[in-house]
Amino acid sequence: MSANILLVGSTDRQLEDVLRACGMQAPSAAGSELAVLAQPAAKQPDVLVLDVRDQNHLPTALPILKRQHPRTGVIIITSAMEPALLLEAMRAGVTEVVTNITEDELRNAIGRLIASHPSAARAGQAYAFLGAKGGVGTTTVAVNVATALAKLDPQSTLLIDLHVTNGDAAVFLGAEPRFSIVDAMENTHRLDESFFKTLVVKTKAGVDLLASSDRVMLNPVDVRRIRTILEFAERHYRYIILDVPRSDATVLDALETVAQIVVVANQELATVRSASRIATSLRQRYGKDRVTVVVSRSDRLADIAHEDVERAVGSPVKFTFPSDYRRALQALNKGIPVTVDNHNELSGAFVRFAKGLTGMEKKESKERAAARFSIFGARKGTAQETR
Ligand SMILES: Nc1ncnc2c1ncn2[C@@H]1O[C@H](COP(=O)(O)OP(=O)(O)O)[C@@H](O)[C@H]1O
Ligand SMILES: [Mg+2]
Repeated sequence: MSANILLVGSTDRQLEDVLRACGMQAPSAAGSELAVLAQPAAKQPDVLVLDVRDQNHLPTALPILKRQHPRTGVIIITSAMEPALLLEAMRAGVTEVVTNITEDELRNAIGRLIASHPSAARAGQAYAFLGAKGGVGTTTVAVNVATALAKLDPQSTLLIDLHVTNGDAAVFLGAEPRFSIVDAMENTHRLDESFFKTLVVKTKAGVDLLASSDRVMLNPVDVRRIRTILEFAERHYRYIILDVPRSDATVLDALETVAQIVVVANQELATVRSASRIATSLRQRYGKDRVTVVVSRSDRLADIAHEDVERAVGSPVKFTFPSDYRRALQALNKGIPVTVDNHNELSGAFVRFAKGLTGMEKKESKERAAARFSIFGARKGTAQETR
């Protein structure tokens, strides 16, 4: 995995050149950018390189950034190994200090940070689905997006029902899980591949499921345990779909690593109002680019039009799923998601949405473009390099 490197607070062209040789692509940022990066919703680089050679102290924003984003790897560039500065660095949680700017030194430091990063081997991306109200069709969307991804890319997809109790994703998938998210939360200290395999159930739809529990959990839900489970899942699956309970603030606080949070609404006034509140607070917490609103059971003749929904939630409706109550209910009763059968409008919508959400669509069109180029005699490599 190539690292996303960002250089902050440096005017040294040579340092920039060396970092470019190490794979840095982003333009370097001014020192004042550090305070912006320290904000809770700020998107983080994998490795932040901070040039402090003309300073006696570390910037005050650095410890704040490390507290807010403990997973951001930081390298500081100093002119000498000053004990006071090293102590400050250690206290701020910085493990890499470089004085000798050579490609080897920096490459090694970047390598160490990437290797110790909890997401180092993270292969996957998580997508959270959250209903603006109960009954809007959130679990239906989550289960069918997971099914679509598992069909397109077998063994790639895990669905986690984050309703600690009484979630119903297992019913939608016709599964009878023996273990649940509660077992995972109570055993985060021993999460490894073989243990996790015993907790998930392989469903007929091709989706692995970490289900909700039938038993009441004795301890309150701990946000750190949910984060640990998500990070583990992201290292072992390409796609992780989360069916998120709307009313559990702890779960809502654990979604930092999630690529997209999809708020599911429909065309009812109460739901639209609630979607507006939820989308606003999620945007504040996780940034506007990571929050998407979709409409389920779309009805073109409804009193509340899509434009009304968009005005209320303050963003475009990214996707609408047609209403097909008979098919949705039949699928639920049989425990076979509609997307298992791809010959209907509803399942087609789920597949298209799943492809767009995960970027599969872009990859496919790039591949098609590459194939077209090669037909017309251009070198295939050239076409594939085109972004
Ligand atoms: N696109 C749809 N068209 C018609 N009915 C739907 C659709 N999606 C879901 N439903 C139905 O709505 C009900 C609630 O769905 P569910 O996914 O459990 O909602 P939620 O998870 O938001 O509570 C179910 O009976 C389901 O079959
Ligand atoms: Mg549900």
